[in-house]
Amino acid sequence: MDIKNRNLEFNNMPQHIAIIMDGNGRWAKKRLLPRTMGHREGMKSIKRIVEACMELKIQVLTVFAFSTENWRRPQNEVSYLMDLLIEFLNKELQEMHENDIRIKILGDFSSLPKNCVDSIEHALQLTSENQKMTFNLAINYGGRTEILQAVKRLGQEISEGRINTSDISEEVFSSYLYTNTMPDPDLLIRTAGELRLSNFLLWQIAYTELWITDVTWPEFTKEHLLQAITEYQKRDRRFGGLSHQ
Ligand code: IPE
Ligand code: IPE
Ligand code: MG
Repeated sequence: MDIKNRNLEFNNMPQHIAIIMDGNGRWAKKRLLPRTMGHREGMKSIKRIVEACMELKIQVLTVFAFSTENWRRPQNEVSYLMDLLIEFLNKELQEMHENDIRIKILGDFSSLPKNCVDSIEHALQLTSENQKMTFNLAINYGGRTEILQAVKRLGQEISEGRINTSDISEEVFSSYLYTNTMPDPDLLIRTAGELRLSNFLLWQIAYTELWITDVTWPEFTKEHLLQAITEYQKRDRRFGGLSHQ
């Protein structure tokens, strides 16, 4: 599949694409495999989509890898996911760094197993100056938790007299979220068909275009990404105003 042969409008690309990578378990179940094999296969999709986004010059790619609610899963699945995360970082870090990708984590990773925290900190530090694309991994991420930690930090700063309540604009508030000064997602993709947000980026997706496919995450290819972007480009983003057409 060649991106150049596609009728994409290069002046109307999403700056920030966010993805709820869902359906690993269903992919595995359909093939009579353990759920963990679905997660392993899903890791290959992450690599594919990072590469595709680089090729498309997307500025920010955010993927939802583990939610604050995913701790409710069986312990063996949770630890498999954590190990997979380390494996992914160990395998892909060097290449991502060479490709000038900056890795960021959305979520509180301090409570993850020690080897995860170490891998993450190494990846963050190594890639912190990179420019071409920001790759956000949402791990132990919950939209409500993110908003609450912002409120708490702001409350602290108010009580210490470092900021006035009247100065808290939407922009200031946004800068206290994990996404800091990054642009909000323009396009949110959810695989495996569920019609919900599952506590993802609640503040940031106020005006994001949603694209949901029944395709599961392990099956998701560059072709599906291009389909999503093509449909995104047909949307009339009014932001509450009137159409330009
Ligand atoms: C998404 O796949 C991966 C994570 C949530 C970590 P699931 O594991 O949720 O797959 P389904 O929804 O059970 O098919
Ligand atoms: C959302 O998927 C979280 C991630 C993709 C990491 P879930 O599978 O956890 O979502 P629900 O439980 O179906 O809402
Ligand atoms: Mg799921």
